[in-house]
Amino acid sequence: MGLSTAAYSPAGSPTPLGTATARRRSVHQFLRPRRPLLATVRCSVDGAAAVATETPASRKDCFGVFCNIYDLKAEDTTKSWKKLVNIAVSGAAGMISNHLLFKLASGEVFGQDQPIALKLLGSERSFQALEGVAMELEDSLYPLLREVSIGIDPYEVFQDVDWALLIGAKPRGPGMERAALLDINGQIFADQGKALNAVASQNVKVLVVGNPCNTNALICLKNAPNIPAKNFHALTRLDENRAKCQLALKAGVFYDKVSNVTIWGNHSTTQVPDFLNAKIDGRLVKDVIKDTKWLEEEFTMTVQKRGGVLIQKWGRSSAASTAVSIVDAIRSLVTPTPEGDWFSSGVYTTGNPYGIAEDIVFSMPCRSKGDGDYELVSDVLMDDFLWERIKKSEAELLAEKKCVAHLTGEGNAFCDLPEDTMLPGEM
Ligand code: LMR
Repeated sequence: MGLSTAAYSPAGSPTPLGTATARRRSVHQFLRPRRPLLATVRCSVDGAAAVATETPASRKDCFGVFCNIYDLKAEDTTKSWKKLVNIAVSGAAGMISNHLLFKLASGEVFGQDQPIALKLLGSERSFQALEGVAMELEDSLYPLLREVSIGIDPYEVFQDVDWALLIGAKPRGPGMERAALLDINGQIFADQGKALNAVASQNVKVLVVGNPCNTNALICLKNAPNIPAKNFHALTRLDENRAKCQLALKAGVFYDKVSNVTIWGNHSTTQVPDFLNAKIDGRLVKDVIKDTKWLEEEFTMTVQKRGGVLIQKWGRSSAASTAVSIVDAIRSLVTPTPEGDWFSSGVYTTGNPYGIAEDIVFSMPCRSKGDGDYELVSDVLMDDFLWERIKKSEAELLAEKKCVAHLTGEGNAFCDLPEDTMLPGEM
């Protein structure tokens, strides 16, 4: 892997916090890793002794206890453990990641027979917090978590990754134009796309969470021409989960009864929660919820604006439910989709069967065989109401795309957003 990440030394002298000099020093550590003291660490998993057989000094790309090699003999005893999966997470010191990383490490996402390596990308500013995250992962003694590394350079952190969960992005500040937000975050995702293209596994699956996630995903894939465009996703699973919850509430059922929910379009207030195709207990929603006005107005708006309402309550964006929806989104790709059902993901539109404009990232209904790949669902119902709303979200994404032409290699940007449409959190 060859990352030059910070080697955390439990015995190392503490670095003073808070000053620019201290920050520079800690990044310097990152660039030229200190090696931890030699130590023999013994771990035990399911009764099988896992003894460190390699000296920590031989592992440069690791954090703390993860510099001790997990003894392969332990794997021999279980036989069922799979080849290590490398997962990069950006924005790793943030709130969403703080929920997500522990789910990943617990085996909840990739399975109890799947060892993982976590490669955490932060910024110079968040580097101390990133060390704190890695220390908490150490202290959690997860048997499936075999490696943790931290860094601020995507070209190092993304080396050989099989999954890239791109969470880190700048929030829209007070008075900031949406065009400026698109540009600032777009630069981040252009750089990360280039880095993935250069050093990640060529079949890496990329899930963009940082907003505006559809257009960020488009920028990322355009900057990664060696990676199939189909491998890029923008997270709309949170919106799907929100829609399922609202339908269950209205129908007076538990949410496991709600299926076939599609979110079409952009992760913004133009997104289209589809009640035409959704089902409750196997019946079309319209046959169960007769209140069409509620479906067209209240249901739709509640889902579109749920993120903003949460921000008003919490004073910050949703974090735990976003992490849960990332888990759901990944699990939907690594486990077969239940017969007759589907899930929503923001994916590249080229070749879509619905007539949605090509060459954007748009949330659509998908099915997976569980191999990490997906197919679009073609047998969906469409009516004028649904189509009209889909076109509105499409228009928004086409306008966003023009704003970032300078980042996708398509000439000069021309930003003329018809109205100042919002992320769900920006009401
Ligand atoms: C959400 O849907 O909760 C977030 O995307 C809101 C936001 O703008 O952070």
